Amino acid sequence: MYDWDELLSPYKQAVDELKIKLRSIREQYERTSKHTPIEFVTGRVKPVTSILDKAKRKNIPLEEIDEKMQDLAGVRIMCQFVGDIDTVVDLIRMRTDFEIVEERDYIKNKKNSGYRSYHMVLRYPVQTISGEIQLLVELQIRTLAMNFWATIEHSLQYKYRGEIPSNIEKRLQRAAEAAFRLDEEMSQIRGEVQEAQEIITR
Ligand code: GTP
Ligand code: MG
Repeated sequence: MYDWDELLSPYKQAVDELKIKLRSIREQYERTSKHTPIEFVTGRVKPVTSILDKAKRKNIPLEEIDEKMQDLAGVRIMCQFVGDIDTVVDLIRMRTDFEIVEERDYIKNKKNSGYRSYHMVLRYPVQTISGEIQLLVELQIRTLAMNFWATIEHSLQYKYRGEIPSNIEKRLQRAAEAAFRLDEEMSQIRGEVQEAQEIITR
């Protein structure tokens, strides 16, 4: 029998630590008068049933999941505006408490499903009673609209067990475009409001 608790506990520690660190970025912005690029942060350790499903689907031997399954630890950062994502990516790149091993820009290159998000894979060190362990954490950075779409699409994928009928797939792709247009419109509105304010305060 596999000792999942033992394998996953450093991942839980990594997720807990990163949630605190990333929420602290938000708190630091809140102490200034600047707009915070981070709206909220969530995180989870992949449930064992999902680990087993994915290992089977992707033919990953259980001994290799710590290197080949990059999302055992997953942290998500939600932003108000698409432009905030770049700010967050820059903040992440500046940090010295972990290493970035991979970046995938699914905003410039959206997935066929319509999915958009910015992904970073981190090599994150956790300190344990038996020394330091470095492990992979998947960081997803997305707007509230991208998150709205991805959350619902994910639960539909789950309901249909990954076999969404093609007419629904098409509608989801269109819904993803609508979410993206909403993001663009919100950014534009914000830009215009900022401009108007600058004129008033001049
Ligand atoms: P998996 O998709 O996790 O098997 O690994 P991968 O190597 O293909 O990584 P990828 O960057 O494609 O996706 C990693 C994660 O992004 C997934 O576990 C999801 O959380 C999210 N994701 C990717 N594509 C989609 C999508 O079409 N819909 C939704 N809702 N989420 C997605
Ligand atoms: Mg994938």
